[in-house]
Amino acid sequence: MLKIKTNENFASLSGSYLFTETQRRIRLFEAENPEKKVIKLGIGDVTRPLAPTVVEAMLRAAEEMGRADGFHGYAPEAGYGFLRTAIAENYASRGVDVRPEEVYVSDGSKSDASGIFDLFGDLPVVIPDPVYPVYADSCVMSGKKVVYLPATRENGFLPTPDLAPDRASAIFICSPNNPTGAAYGTAGLAEWVAYAKRTGSLIVCDAAYSAFISSDCPNSIYRIPGAKSCAVELNSLSKSAGFTGTRCAWAVFPRELGELAGMWLRRQSAKFNGVAYVVQRAAEAALSKQGMRESEENIAYYRRNAQKICSVLSEKGIYHTGGIDSPYIWLKCPGTDDSWGFFDRMLHRLRIAGTPGAGFGKNGEGYFRLTAFCSDEDADEAAERMRKLL
Ligand code: MLT
Repeated sequence: MLKIKTNENFASLSGSYLFTETQRRIRLFEAENPEKKVIKLGIGDVTRPLAPTVVEAMLRAAEEMGRADGFHGYAPEAGYGFLRTAIAENYASRGVDVRPEEVYVSDGSKSDASGIFDLFGDLPVVIPDPVYPVYADSCVMSGKKVVYLPATRENGFLPTPDLAPDRASAIFICSPNNPTGAAYGTAGLAEWVAYAKRTGSLIVCDAAYSAFISSDCPNSIYRIPGAKSCAVELNSLSKSAGFTGTRCAWAVFPRELGELAGMWLRRQSAKFNGVAYVVQRAAEAALSKQGMRESEENIAYYRRNAQKICSVLSEKGIYHTGGIDSPYIWLKCPGTDDSWGFFDRMLHRLRIAGTPGAGFGKNGEGYFRLTAFCSDEDADEAAERMRKLL
């Protein structure tokens, strides 16, 4: 019998991680109904194959690794220079000044968003509700105080700083937002930057879905003057270039943030051993002009899927948002169902797996998320089922 004292903050977490629970229910349904095909519009996992340019780069790098003169061992903790430069150039192509030495390569934004808690002392952590559950779960595990900002239909799912405490805090912004798809415009982000500068707060801006922006919303917080002195930006190739299984992302710690960048490097050196050479070469290729062109075709494909789903929701008069700057469609559960009740109804009656809004926070109750990261056949079939059965 163990007698160690365990981390008591775990007692404040929900029993299982959101997607573990949804997957469990889906697997159970599939085991009981093996003849029924479930259309998976739940977890935001991409389905289009990697771009040819990316695959070629991976093959070349794998071949290099098999030669004594091309072999690579441990990667540098912050990433190879060639990838940090490619990321900085990608920002430059969007008119944003980020230096290669401000970029820290990692295996995913999930790792970065959870790891950043190591840098925080005793401070409130401000988190929109609903949002990607990793921020709140990591905050609770680390014993920090969470202040939730309600993101509601009334505020367009984009909470403003007047809802935040008037003191130095760490603020998570996810724009475009997972799960609602709402993206801050320039004025909205500028308000957050002004608030952070006034209170001495740090913004952690998760831009993992920025490649989906088709409106004029900024695709980086650094488009806002002054943001480099108060914001870390996270980004990832998971959704933009299909790297969910390949794993490559980055955090930008601008020089203006002072000691924080050094602390992040110190943390990464102690806890992380770098991203595989082959993957970093693949990421470099994904960020090349040709790689971006090829990935853009996949993004356009997912956008068409989103429009198919949104069309049927409009036909049915079901309130929904998202699907424009984001691969996610956020809808009000029709009828009297709560989020999990609707999840079960969709799964059992329509054989469509989505994600209950309540899993993203209290204010997600009564909402439901569908992802457009499916095949176009599945999007058509899901739209048809919703047309007939919703
Ligand atoms: C989601 O479905 O919200 C995402 O797949 C989660 C993630 O990116 O880790």
